[in-house]
Amino acid sequence: MTATPFQTMTSIPMRKKLIAGNWKMNKTSADAVLLVKDIDAASPKDQNVEVVICPPFTALESVARALEGSAVKLGAQNMHPEPSGAYTGEISAAMLRALFASYVILGHSERRMYFKETDAFINQKVLAAFKSQLKPILCVGETLQEREAGVTLKVIQTQVERGLQGVARDIATSAVVAYEPVWAIGTGKVATTAQAQEVHAFIRGLLTNLFGEAIAQKIRILYGGSMKPANAPELLAQTDIDGGLIGGASLEARSFLELINAAAAVK
Ligand code: PGA
Repeated sequence: MTATPFQTMTSIPMRKKLIAGNWKMNKTSADAVLLVKDIDAASPKDQNVEVVICPPFTALESVARALEGSAVKLGAQNMHPEPSGAYTGEISAAMLRALFASYVILGHSERRMYFKETDAFINQKVLAAFKSQLKPILCVGETLQEREAGVTLKVIQTQVERGLQGVARDIATSAVVAYEPVWAIGTGKVATTAQAQEVHAFIRGLLTNLFGEAIAQKIRILYGGSMKPANAPELLAQTDIDGGLIGGASLEARSFLELINAAAAVK
């Protein structure tokens, strides 16, 4: 993986950094409220960083209440593409909107891996999210085998292009893409800044092809995969890394706040 088929943009990007906490299947509703209150109380108020918390479905309502009047935003970790109907165990975009969620994580590698979600199904969810004014955080990423086989960029291209198929240009700036190398998630193995920036620049090029440069320059591309206070400043300083999707380090107020502060400190 040396050259990318797209050039890194030369114009100065104007993107607000975004730090999103993906709590996965952790925290009861009561525990979630305690954590979110700690995060909210200590979050700097006037900073140029958008903070999103994605608790499990069962904690969305209590966290939404705890965040009333706060700048911290709420997101969900998944949803079903249909608006309603006989889909036992599933949750629709409208249900999430009704609980004041403004973001939804879609296509996380754990969903792809354990629940066999395909790019086509994820694309339906992306389109349904937009329809309900939910901003999708589309996750893409290669496995270790794919990286070792030298097909990382091909895998990313397929996931980005299929995931965003049919998204209209006028709403595309609300989309967020999260690059999460599967081998770096929860493993403590973080991608090097060069590895991450290479893929982020490649994704920016794909977005340019899809939506044009002006729009592509406004879309946030997050890095995810063992992002921690120790490695965040360097990752977040990269041209095309506009924030982080944080798993493990979002489960404790202290480390999550350090990540918010690291994003705020990037000039
Ligand atoms: P991690 O998870 O930070 O624990 O590696 C990131 C994610 O899966 O979104």
